Amino acid sequence: METKPDYLIKGGKRLDGRKLADWREISIKTGVIENADGSAQVDFGKTKVIAAVYGPRELHPRHLVMSDRALVRAKYDMLSFSVEDRKRPGPGRREHEISKVTAEALSSVVLTEKFPRAVIDVFVTVIQADASTRITGLNAASIALADAGIPMKGLVVGVTFGKIYDEKGKGYMAVDVFKPEDQWGQADIAYAKSYNDNKVVLLQMDGDVTKEEFLKGKEMADKAMEYTYKEMVKALKGKYEVD
Ligand code: CDP
Repeated sequence: METKPDYLIKGGKRLDGRKLADWREISIKTGVIENADGSAQVDFGKTKVIAAVYGPRELHPRHLVMSDRALVRAKYDMLSFSVEDRKRPGPGRREHEISKVTAEALSSVVLTEKFPRAVIDVFVTVIQADASTRITGLNAASIALADAGIPMKGLVVGVTFGKIYDEKGKGYMAVDVFKPEDQWGQADIAYAKSYNDNKVVLLQMDGDVTKEEFLKGKEMADKAMEYTYKEMVKALKGKYEVD
C-alpha cells in the first residue's frame, strides 16, 4: 500500500475483515520437497513459506564442528517475486538477522547432543510475502524438523501481534499482522514459544506499546498459537495415517 490509510481498524473490522483476535487462514503441508530429509509449507493467509531440512549430516567448514553436539544452521531467504517490489536476489542484512534468530529459536528445542559433530541445515524460503514471514518460516522449519525425524523437546510455534489504529488514531492490539498493519501499524511483534515447556524462544518488536497492551496482545497470540500448534500436529499426524 503506497499511502498511509486513514485507519487499520474501523467498526471492529480490520482492512481484511478480521476482528482483532482473528488469525488468517492457516494451511500446513508436510513432505513438499522430496529430496529433503524433512519439509513443510505453511501459509498464513497470503504469506507462504517453504522449509526444507537436510541432516544430521557432516559439517563443513570443519572449524564449526562441535564435539559434543550438532550445529543447527538456518538460512532464510525471500524469492524475488515474493514481494510487491521485486526483491534483490540473495541475502542482505535483514535475511542474515532472520536466519540467526531462526537458528537460535530452533536450537533451543532440537536435542543437538544426540548428534555430536554434525550439522542440521534448515532452509526457509518465502514464496509469497504478506508480513509475518519470519514467524511463518519458523513454524514451517519446526514442522520440517519433525518431518525429518529430528528429536526435539517439542515444536516451536509462533504468531505475530501488533498495534493498529482506528480513524481517531486510537491503538488496538491485533493478532497475526498482515502487510498494511506491519507497514503502517504502531507496533509489530514476532513471538514464538517452545510449546511443550512454554519457553519464549523468539521475541522481536518494532514500535512501542504499554505493558498492558503487550500483555493483551500476547494473550491473543497465545490463543492463536494454541490453534496453530494443533494444526501443526494434525499435519504431522496426517502424514503417517493409513487410509
Ligand atoms: O516478514 P516479517 O514480518 O518477519 O519481517 P519484516 O522485516 O518486518 O517484513 C515485513 C514485511 O515487509 C514482509 O513480510 C514483506 O511482506 C515486506 N517486505 C517487502 O515487501 N520487501 C522486502 N525486501 C522485505 C520485506
